[in-house]
Amino acid sequence: MPTRVLSGTRPTGKLHLGNLLGAIENYKKLQGQDAFFMIADWHALTTEYESHSHIADNVMEVVIDYLASGLDPDKCTIFIQSEVPEHAEMALLLSMITPLGWLERNPTYKDQLRELKGRDLNTHGFLGYPVLQAADILLYKAEKVPVGEDQLPHLELAREIVRRFHHLYGKEIFPEPEAILTEAPRVPGLDGRKMSKSYDNCIYLSDSADVVTKKVRTMVTDPARKLREDKGHPEICPVYFHHKLYNAAQTETVAHECREALRGCVDCKMEMAEKLNLFLEPIRKKRAEWTVKRSEVRQILDKGRTRAREVAHATLEEAMKAVGLRK
Ligand code: TRP
Ligand code: SF4
Repeated sequence: MPTRVLSGTRPTGKLHLGNLLGAIENYKKLQGQDAFFMIADWHALTTEYESHSHIADNVMEVVIDYLASGLDPDKCTIFIQSEVPEHAEMALLLSMITPLGWLERNPTYKDQLRELKGRDLNTHGFLGYPVLQAADILLYKAEKVPVGEDQLPHLELAREIVRRFHHLYGKEIFPEPEAILTEAPRVPGLDGRKMSKSYDNCIYLSDSADVVTKKVRTMVTDPARKLREDKGHPEICPVYFHHKLYNAAQTETVAHECREALRGCVDCKMEMAEKLNLFLEPIRKKRAEWTVKRSEVRQILDKGRTRAREVAHATLEEAMKAVGLRK
């Protein structure tokens, strides 16, 4: 039996190299299983409700990024959370049995309240974020959930909700979901911090070759190399990190020449940008193709929704029966 897998991406913008090397590469490895990959637009709304941004446009961008980077709709189910109404219903059902204290002491919740300044996140929806996420997972009876480390508290909460459900209703309906930790290399962004949309330091899958080259030119390097004659420390240089990813055959040479001050940072960056562009070119090409095939993308999503609803509907009925809403 293939393992049931589910994961979700919040559509807050186009995907970048960090998303690709972290999440998507992992998803691709799981495509042979019974895998569901969801665009979590309701989750995006928990933090974006004031921004008047078109979440629906971002949803399409993420789907296209998924397809362009090799997720195959014949091997996995790609769908949009809000198109499967069972997610909202299941979240409401689970909210009945989730103690407020569990949500209030969730570390991810507390971090986000602190970090996402300038927005009012003292809302019912935001506090309930992990309940909705538990609903996503339980509806598919997912056993494995590929996520980054930051999501572990949410997964733990989903397991607690499962145990409480079973305890309250005396029926074992759900498996306890387990995280598959993305062995994500912590991809450094242009400023050397973790690549993240909120730091504005990203290289996007949709960036043109020119934009990529320009961005790489601004990338920070080993700060000890002020002069061309200064010897460098490639192991702390973000440019070198990217060489390791896209220029694997040359990494020894790059490291040696950096340490001995045999290469300058500008040349080093240009070589990396060239290799990165070679790596991105096929993704860019497929992106452009999918962008003009909107109706095919829509068909893929329709098929995904149908398949997702079949599973989600059956589970919701089962859960409604267990809690006494159905006979
Ligand atoms: N909270 C996840 C994130 O921010 C996205 C997500 C929503 C998710 N529903 C999910 C991940 C269900 C795994 C399973 O990345
Ligand atoms: Fe980084 Fe290359 Fe400069 Fe060394 S030579 S510090 S690896 S950019």
